[in-house]
Amino acid sequence: MSLVTMKELLKRASDKNIAVGAFNVANMEMLIGAITAAEKLDTPIIIQVAESRLAFSPLYLIAPMMVEAARKASVPVAVNFDHGKTLENIGEALKYGFTSVMFDGSSFSMEENVRKTNECADLASKYGATVEGELGVLAGNEGDGDVAKSLYTKPDDAVSFAKEAHIDALAVAIGNAHGKYVKTPNLQFDILKEIHERVDLPLVLHGGTGISPEDFQKCIRLGVRKVNIATANFEACLEGAMNLAGTEGPKNYFTMNEAMVECVRENVEKHINIFNMR
Ligand code: 13P
Repeated sequence: MSLVTMKELLKRASDKNIAVGAFNVANMEMLIGAITAAEKLDTPIIIQVAESRLAFSPLYLIAPMMVEAARKASVPVAVNFDHGKTLENIGEALKYGFTSVMFDGSSFSMEENVRKTNECADLASKYGATVEGELGVLAGNEGDGDVAKSLYTKPDDAVSFAKEAHIDALAVAIGNAHGKYVKTPNLQFDILKEIHERVDLPLVLHGGTGISPEDFQKCIRLGVRKVNIATANFEACLEGAMNLAGTEGPKNYFTMNEAMVECVRENVEKHINIFNMR
């Protein structure tokens, strides 16, 4: 069915009042697992790789694989460059055919974030790609879900940012964090509600790993149209290999490949089913 822009999938999600899952992948097994899940459930997805992970999954290898997998998929798939930090890598991803880029300017001042996000948007517009911006600081990298370090997105700032930054989607910080939550996340739904009421953009929830189905549902009712899942996917891949080690059957690369694909598929399916619920 094909490679599509993220904008298209966000619109579909808004029309249906659901969210589209954005799944981080690091290798071929994770990629196949994610696409297989989407095809099985006949649901579009976003596949993405974060700039911070390029040391493990070099762009020149992972990017062609992701774009080709999306082209060949039987459901619409968008390919997103997650947490882009440099115009150089964002530009590379776009050249490989990514249909969406996120610029993570959350560590900059508002003015600097707007300026750099717009540089990224100018570049993305040459490729017809979708742009996601971020406002507010999310704690943690994958593996560190310390919410204490986060700074919530201020609704007033979100309104200004949405006006000045040329973005198609806005990632918000409402008590969500990357990685495993050290304690149950306490999402600030009042902040999300206010941003949703005042900002006419699809909202993005990062730090999806460990959020309960009920909280996902609440976020979706309050305008979240894209949910990012990374850590749970990496863990599913590892779990596939670890579980295989404990079984009696044959152990070789090929059985490991199948075990990893299967665990990632299950994880992605589980999340798609939650995000598709109305
Ligand atoms: P998790 O690792 O918590 O799932 O967060 C994913 C994410 O937001 C990637 O940008």
